Amino acid sequence: MSELLAGSGPVLGIETSCDETGVALYAPGVGLLAQALYSQVELHAEYGGVVPELASRDHVRKLIPLIAQVLAEAGLKPGEVQGVAYTAGPGLIGALLVGGAVACGLGAAWKVPVVPVHHMEGHLLAPLLEDDPPAYPFIALLVSGGHTLLVEVKGLGQYRILGESLDDAVGEAFDKTAKLLGLGYPGGPQLAKLAEAGDPARFRLPRPMLDRPGLEFSFSGLKTAVLHLLKQVQLDDQTRADIARAFEEAVVETLTEKCHRALAQTGDTRLVVAGGVGANQRLRKRLREMATASGARVYYPRPAYCTDNGAMIAQVGALRLAEGRRAPCAIEARARWSLEELRPVAA
Ligand code: KG4
Ligand code: ZN
Repeated sequence: MSELLAGSGPVLGIETSCDETGVALYAPGVGLLAQALYSQVELHAEYGGVVPELASRDHVRKLIPLIAQVLAEAGLKPGEVQGVAYTAGPGLIGALLVGGAVACGLGAAWKVPVVPVHHMEGHLLAPLLEDDPPAYPFIALLVSGGHTLLVEVKGLGQYRILGESLDDAVGEAFDKTAKLLGLGYPGGPQLAKLAEAGDPARFRLPRPMLDRPGLEFSFSGLKTAVLHLLKQVQLDDQTRADIARAFEEAVVETLTEKCHRALAQTGDTRLVVAGGVGANQRLRKRLREMATASGARVYYPRPAYCTDNGAMIAQVGALRLAEGRRAPCAIEARARWSLEELRPVAA
């Protein structure tokens, strides 16, 4: 089959890697035309975590209606869409396959190119959706439910991993600790809310890996430290808040120090924060203070672009399409996929 030439018109983005069905239309040079997001949080809440099979089935139910909705909102007919981008990984394989199958089906029906997108590249470049985007190069701190990564970004597709978590991702640590404190799923935002009422001076938890040089992270010990602490205290409301605060302080200090080191090591002066945990207000404040003191600047996508969404996938799709020709679609779904395997198209 011959290659399809990318157009420069609106690109449809589809995100189905986990428990959010995200759809958006993005036009290069114009920006976001429409977006819709359906969260499965309530579906999974009673199980205390994401149930992969239920996630896939719900994406099947929601995806097509959401696509119809964004097309209507943007006032576009299907024939006016110039490309379809979908999250091809990393993520839950069944959930990814739903997005991939729909994207390839639409690509074939509309005769437009289809772009498989790396979910973390979507997060990494989400700040470019904002009015005052960072220039390359920059350091990106990617903190989500599945990943904790420090990446040096030299350009589209030029990613060098400086450090990552050796065990639990930071969002996972938030969620597991929240569970220990009796909070519901997803625990990160609930723990952060509880921590607001906590006394930061009452408990001090370890700062994992800060005593060693390097940019790796480890969060499973912190969760164990919380477990030990819980066995030693009388668990009233104030104590739960104090423990939540101690946990949040330990995580925030660790992430801030590693970002400080990454900026110092590379000489970069721009730091991008992305992924669900990037919505954490204390982390945002502390990183801003650190950056100001180091002559650097932090860029945050708005909280809605920090968590999973279709806009970030549509944007990467448009950037990739703008780079040149794409092969016709073969459905891709990869549970694991390193950012360092990505390349600029020209390379
Ligand atoms: O990027 P994301 O939406 O999905 C993944 O790709 O994982 O990140 C979700 C993670 C969850 O672990 C959630 O608890 C955490 O981000 N999270 C937060 C906050 N909001 C979301 N963690 C701490 N503080 C928050 N405000
Ligand atoms: Zn994500």
